[in-house]
Amino acid sequence: MELLGVIGNPIGHSLSPVMHSAAFKAVGRSALYLPFLVEADQLSQAIYGAQALGFTGLNITVPYKEKVLPYLTELTDEAEAVQSVNTIKFTEDRIIGHSTDGEGFMAAAEYELGYDFRGKTVLIMGAGGAAKAVTAALLNKQCQVYITNRTLERAEQLVHSLNRFGTQLEVVPLNSAALEPVMDEIEVVVNTTSVGMAQNLGQTPLAPSLLAPHQLVIDIIYNPEKTQLLKAAEQIGCRVQNGVGMLVWQAVKAWEFWWGITPPAEIMYQAVKASLS
Ligand code: ATR
Repeated sequence: MELLGVIGNPIGHSLSPVMHSAAFKAVGRSALYLPFLVEADQLSQAIYGAQALGFTGLNITVPYKEKVLPYLTELTDEAEAVQSVNTIKFTEDRIIGHSTDGEGFMAAAEYELGYDFRGKTVLIMGAGGAAKAVTAALLNKQCQVYITNRTLERAEQLVHSLNRFGTQLEVVPLNSAALEPVMDEIEVVVNTTSVGMAQNLGQTPLAPSLLAPHQLVIDIIYNPEKTQLLKAAEQIGCRVQNGVGMLVWQAVKAWEFWWGITPPAEIMYQAVKASLS
């Protein structure tokens, strides 16, 4: 029996255990995937403990995706680029950190909408870890990316940390006057902020009047299934996508990293949707 799990704090809400367990059952893989609530001062013990116990791998979630870096022996290029790890693989003597968040984001839109991001112009709302992972993946697809964020300095820091992409990446202040001139060329709008989740359910991260029908609007929030932003975008005539796909596809990409095999994504979608409803 292989052992895997997800480490975070809080962890009770994580859908990773049901998603991975459903896929193990579907393909007949003898593996156990558990959620682990770990305190910050126990993080290194948790990682080394899992290694000592012979775990195959771990997922890492909020708030440890960056804090886990010192305990790893190496990083993949994807993790190195964003200095963030959501997937760990244990080998005989190594602890390898990888990030599947960016790949998962892109794969979800490719799978659900047949969308090809190559060369597109994208507006990202938010400048946290999720924004960074999505932005790095988009830049690798030669996208032009604009970042807007409540705290402008944080957006500037994000751009600075990915500065090898030069003018492919720019900051726009989060106000209608600054955004309006660029909205015409925007093909995809992505919300990576928490605006629209339970604590600010009816709010949108930008004024819906800025949206236009030709745009694809993606919210990486999956609970609620349809945020106020997506509802407003749909009314305008935009194509929309919620965060379930990114959640599923970052997990699909984790399997590819652990075992080099692709799990049944559809089974994972069903498991997530059943848990959410
Ligand atoms: P994650 O790693 O999941 O992306 P994070 O680092 O906490 O999470 O980032 C959350 C993002 O949501 C940030 O861009 C944050 O904006 P600030 O940098 O200004 O904090 C954004 N955010 C959270 N609450 C917000 C709100 N009420 N209005 C606008 N933006 C908000």
